[in-house]
Amino acid sequence: MPGKLFEIHISDFIIIMRLSSVLRQFLLLFLSLQALGSSSAATDSTKPTMEPGIFYSYGPMVENTTNAPSDDGSSSSVQFPTPFLFFGNKHQQIYVNNNGFLTFNQSSSQYDPDSFPAFKNQDIIAGLWTDLDNREKGLVYYRQYINGSILQRATQDINSYFSNLTFNASWVFTATWNKVAYYNLTSTETSFQVVLISGGNYSFILMNYAGIAATEHPVEAGYDTVNSYYYFVIPGSNNGSSITKLNTSSNVNVPGRWAFRVDGESKPIAENTIGLELKFNSYSDMTNTANVEFILQKVRQNLIKKGLPSNIQLKLKKILKINP
Ligand SMILES: *[C@@H]1O[C@H](CO)[C@@H](O)[C@H](O)[C@H]1NC(C)=O
Ligand SMILES: *[C@@H]1O[C@H](CO)[C@@H](O)[C@H](O)[C@H]1NC(C)=O
Ligand SMILES: *[C@@H]1O[C@H](CO)[C@@H](O)[C@H](O)[C@H]1NC(C)=O
Ligand SMILES: *[C@@H]1O[C@H](CO)[C@@H](O)[C@H](O)[C@H]1NC(C)=O
Ligand SMILES: *[C@@H]1O[C@H](CO)[C@@H](O)[C@H](O)[C@H]1NC(C)=O
Ligand SMILES: *[C@@H]1O[C@H](CO)[C@@H](O)[C@H](O)[C@H]1NC(C)=O
Ligand SMILES: *[C@@H]1O[C@H](CO)[C@@H](O)[C@H](O)[C@H]1NC(C)=O
Ligand SMILES: *[C@@H]1O[C@H](CO)[C@@H](O)[C@H](O)[C@H]1NC(C)=O
Ligand SMILES: *[C@@H]1O[C@H](CO)[C@@H](O)[C@H](O)[C@H]1NC(C)=O
Repeated sequence: MPGKLFEIHISDFIIIMRLSSVLRQFLLLFLSLQALGSSSAATDSTKPTMEPGIFYSYGPMVENTTNAPSDDGSSSSVQFPTPFLFFGNKHQQIYVNNNGFLTFNQSSSQYDPDSFPAFKNQDIIAGLWTDLDNREKGLVYYRQYINGSILQRATQDINSYFSNLTFNASWVFTATWNKVAYYNLTSTETSFQVVLISGGNYSFILMNYAGIAATEHPVEAGYDTVNSYYYFVIPGSNNGSSITKLNTSSNVNVPGRWAFRVDGESKPIAENTIGLELKFNSYSDMTNTANVEFILQKVRQNLIKKGLPSNIQLKLKKILKINP
């Protein structure tokens, strides 16, 4: 398989892994991705046009709560009518932190992002966690919905990205950072939105990106969980120069949008064992479990980037060295 799929340049090993809780259709998808190889059909395309209107309705007329202008400020707690399931934790409330991320336990004024996996005792959803500053420029709004047309939109989006769930959204939460400046640089403006969606026992997040200014501040987009059992970093989002491309990348073929299933409840249907051929461009001691874990996480991130569910687990079953 061409190295591009995993961004690890490969040559000497076949790694045979066990994919648990991966549905068979995803294995098919995976195989067809293998066939696609390094062709430009990958979903993280850099098409010049952005689909208009990837943002769910936003702005002060719709999202009727606005955070106070405050560097490193936060909303007060937003109570949910029904719990939001996030990788097994049932959250009853959320905080919208001005620095571009959502927390469940308490608000946070942290302006430099943790590097995921952070192995901390908290769940975090980072639309774009960096040193944002809405004192002079930009607004941060949020709103939750239990009725209205936004539920149909969410239902439609989720069913088109995650097949065979027959999902029906009953709750949507949106938080939007609209043209917010970076700390003390009122010449910059950055716009993105995080959407939480739930229905039945399912939950999802969408991240929508519009104009994102480059920054020299540390930055990161993705999510992390208690002890980092699950986490994801949107590729390129931890580099302040390349975040301008967030409005063109996607894991669901919609430029500027990333979608994740986050309930963590999918039942292991069957464990699938697959063989992957990886080429390493430098020596890596595969008897060292830390190296193995590092590579598995890279592979996992790339599989999610290609559209597999974000709760897949990979286990190493066997390593064969080829081309000695
Ligand atoms: C998904 O649903 C379609 C239509 O109902 C069905 O034909 C297909 O077999 C299902 N796929 C899986 C993997 O269950
Ligand atoms: C926002 O609008 C919704 C629906 O009309 C309403 O239930 C909620 O109380 C409003 N929130 C605020 C802070 O006004
Ligand atoms: C935060 O919430 C999670 C999930 O409910 C819980 O496991 C964890 O202990 C909490 N952490 C802190 C610091 O309160
Ligand atoms: C949604 O429910 C709220 C509260 O029950 C109600 O005030 C509002 O009119 C409803 N909106 C729609 C679009 O049905
Ligand atoms: C989806 O849920 C709404 C209420 O949240 C309900 O009115 C509607 O009938 C449901 N649709 C399906 C297809 O189950
Ligand atoms: C940032 O801007 C604020 C308000 O304009 C100013 O009070 C503060 O001194 C500035 N801080 C730095 C480090 O430039
Ligand atoms: C949600 O999960 C619970 C327990 O796993 C189950 O009893 C319930 O039927 C499920 N609800 C739906 C709507 O699937
Ligand atoms: C993406 O964001 C960049 C940086 O803000 C902006 O220049 C560009 O026009 C945006 N592209 C699209 C397609 O929105
Ligand atoms: C960050 O992104 C820029 C532009 O895409 C690239 O030139 C640079 O090498 C990247 N830096 C790192 C540390 O990856």
